[in-house]
Amino acid sequence: MRIGTPLSPSAFRVMLLGSGELGKEVVIELQRLGVEVIAVDRYENAPAQQVAHRAHVIAMTDAKALRALVEKERPHLIVPEIEAIATDELARIEADGLAEVIPTARATQLTMNREGIRRLAAEELGLKTSPYAFASTAAELKEAIEAGIGFPCFVKPVMSSSGKGQSLLKGPDDIQPAWDYAMAGGRVEAPRVIVEGLVDFDYEITQLTVRAKGASGEVETHFCEAVGHRQVKGDYVESWQPQQMSEKALLASRDIAGKVTAALGGRGIFGVELFVKGDEVWFSEVSPRPHDTGLVTLITQYQSEFALHARAILGLPVTVDMISSGASAVIYGGLEEKGIAFEGVDKALSLPGTDIRLFGKPESFERRRMGVALARAADAEEARKIAKQAADAVKPVSGPVSGTK
Ligand SMILES: Nc1ncnc2c1ncn2[C@@H]1O[C@H](COP(=O)(O)OP(=O)(O)OP(=O)(O)O)[C@@H](O)[C@H]1O
Ligand SMILES: [Mg+2]
Repeated sequence: MRIGTPLSPSAFRVMLLGSGELGKEVVIELQRLGVEVIAVDRYENAPAQQVAHRAHVIAMTDAKALRALVEKERPHLIVPEIEAIATDELARIEADGLAEVIPTARATQLTMNREGIRRLAAEELGLKTSPYAFASTAAELKEAIEAGIGFPCFVKPVMSSSGKGQSLLKGPDDIQPAWDYAMAGGRVEAPRVIVEGLVDFDYEITQLTVRAKGASGEVETHFCEAVGHRQVKGDYVESWQPQQMSEKALLASRDIAGKVTAALGGRGIFGVELFVKGDEVWFSEVSPRPHDTGLVTLITQYQSEFALHARAILGLPVTVDMISSGASAVIYGGLEEKGIAFEGVDKALSLPGTDIRLFGKPESFERRRMGVALARAADAEEARKIAKQAADAVKPVSGPVSGTK
């Protein structure tokens, strides 16, 4: 592994596809290592574009546009930050030896579609999951529920994230509205949903798992301490680390995470989403990239999930050691407008052991994640309280700001 000088012929170039807040932290870590970074998104001034060497705005689902940009920029690595990308083109780019796709093009293809990853996990790897079926019409959905999934159940478009198009069904009257909602919220024209039986879990975790080269040059698997989190409508509102769990559940989580990440292959960080009840663990889904709930690692680990990703993809060694217990709490936009301001950051940061990230998103929506409050404390419970207080102290306000008062 050799890193050159950015903006010179020796540069090592990384192209990020998707330039949100998670990508922004990855770019900062790559910048620290002297990597040349090109940040791509479908809108201007996306968070990671603000800290990259160059930025491009294209429709990343457009295979031709994606190919043309890769041929122009000639990155050594392509790092997907989102799911909605022309992943078949990524596979061709990888096969043509044009660039290396992180972790692998196949992993991005499998995980962008709930059907691909669910069949791999449940049917090929034999991992425990919720009962599930797929449907391409409302009638098929009804049939699948009657044939065994039952109520309550979740219906989700096979291609969607952040809870979009997802509903919890309690009885037969909910089927048609759930189908219609999934069709409105899904990403592609081809109608297809997964229906999953509800797992009655005690808590859910993200098992951050890193595949990185060790001293021998072979890829090794490292497991971060479990991240606990709370979701509202498919979107995370707070997370903490470590999540207390039984020894058996911890081992089962790592076993599942080890198997699914090995099957996806390549190098980098993965967020393996798991449901836990007592000693029992169910696989839910996996992101072959940093996970939003892992923002907490910015304050809890020597190498955050973003630093781990940057190092792992470059072929460098990693450590998942923790500094302290901690928590994160999301700061929402609250307003529907462009160019908003934030007050109370000083108040938030005067709380002990806190830190803040404001993502710099050009436009705010009421439920858009605009920042995150972080806190470390003697234990995760205490950290959750402080992170929540810090997030509450930050107030999104309208209009231009004058000075620092
Ligand atoms: N079968 C299930 N049983 C119980 N809870 C579930 C089930 N499926 C989803 N949930 C709940 O809904 C949340 C979101 O589900 P899921 O992760 O599948 O959606 P998503 O759109 O991919 O969300 P994200 O992109 O934020 O991860 C889960 O974290 C969990 O809290
Ligand atoms: Mg999820």
